[in-house]
Amino acid sequence: MRMYDLIEKKKNGNPLSTEEIRWMIDGYTREAIPDYQMAAMLMAVCFCGMNARETYDLTLSMRDSGEIMDLSNIDGVKVDKHSTGGVGDKTTLILAPLVASLGVPVAKMSGRGLGHTGGTIDKLECFPGFRTELSMEEFSRNVNRIKIAIAGQTAALAPADKKLYALRDVTATVSQISLIASSIMSKKLACGSDAVVLDVKTGNGAFMKQEAKAVLLAKEMVKIGRTAGKKMAAIVTDMSQPLGNMVGNSLEVIEAIEALKGNGPKDLMDDVYALGQYMLTLSGYAANTDEAKEKLKNAIGTGKALDKLAELVEAQGGDRAFVYDPSKLAVAKKKLAVTAKENGYISGMDTQDIGTACMILGGGRETKQSVIDLSVGIEFKKKTNSPVRRGDTLAYLYFNDEKKGAQAKAIIEQAYHYSADMPEKTNTIRAVITE
Ligand code: URA
Repeated sequence: MRMYDLIEKKKNGNPLSTEEIRWMIDGYTREAIPDYQMAAMLMAVCFCGMNARETYDLTLSMRDSGEIMDLSNIDGVKVDKHSTGGVGDKTTLILAPLVASLGVPVAKMSGRGLGHTGGTIDKLECFPGFRTELSMEEFSRNVNRIKIAIAGQTAALAPADKKLYALRDVTATVSQISLIASSIMSKKLACGSDAVVLDVKTGNGAFMKQEAKAVLLAKEMVKIGRTAGKKMAAIVTDMSQPLGNMVGNSLEVIEAIEALKGNGPKDLMDDVYALGQYMLTLSGYAANTDEAKEKLKNAIGTGKALDKLAELVEAQGGDRAFVYDPSKLAVAKKKLAVTAKENGYISGMDTQDIGTACMILGGGRETKQSVIDLSVGIEFKKKTNSPVRRGDTLAYLYFNDEKKGAQAKAIIEQAYHYSADMPEKTNTIRAVITE
């Protein structure tokens, strides 16, 4: 086989065979196929697309390029959850202990934040001593003993995707649905859970800005997972404003703890309950979504879910006292208010810019190597639809560096839009894909 012929074939709009896709991904992972040829192939895929069979073959080839986690020594139906990423998305910190507190085994691999989006692993490291590098043995032992473990995703999982993603990033070939779906699902399948619930974000803070495209992506991923024998569901959720009221690592941990105590903001809890309902029904821990919601609410009301977070923190080397007294978490001391410039209503927020402002404060990574400041962030007092009067506090910035604070303040001021009339209210949950 020659890569040249495969590029020509795809360029002419023809589907690649299963063998050709396997050969290509294997060769690229072993560096037998150079970046320039793979870049040409990726661009051909952007123009000519891939059918469902090709997308599935690409997913499995990338899954098989590295280690596949064997969770067979963990009892029960293992359930995973994945978000395509957004601003203020701390749902895993709430959901994982919440669902685990009901007896569902949660064996979760998570990532770090990059660019304007945050990552669960960084947030968990706000608990001093918390270890996210666990041996497979410790990981399985913890899930069997306390029903939950959250570890950083190792480089050994789907290395072909890692290489391809880096190449897509510099060749303007990220935003193709088959490429995104296979990228995400190759890693999810390599993680070995029996059921996966996907949270596909849409809106100006998500990388899938248009809702119709987010729905297509969600459907494609559900189809791939099902074909691979997994139980699957997906929800498409709003990311046209930050999720919840806190953005920034320690601040989001504090908000997650409050949510586990029953004080979570509505948009965040809508997302948590929607995902949790499918995690419980897919894994057989609830007969239907109503029963699931009842159980989830009960676990929060009784404090069981909060106790599970404390168990998780302790089991992975952190101090459980931080869960019961989140004021111990390090939050930057310098604080600045952003105030309203007009009277009326907040009609919209530039969410990606808000994520960038948090990154500028030091709370996010510009490159994978950046060292981040877990203590900085933004607390929102007003979001879309809030009535405001000139001078009202819209948000507080928490920062350590005056220059960065001023820069972020200017971005947040610009990120708010106003209208004279109350804008139409929209739901956080935009679509549910269970078929
Ligand atoms: N996240 C991924 O892991 N892959 C993509 O292609 C896009 C987002």
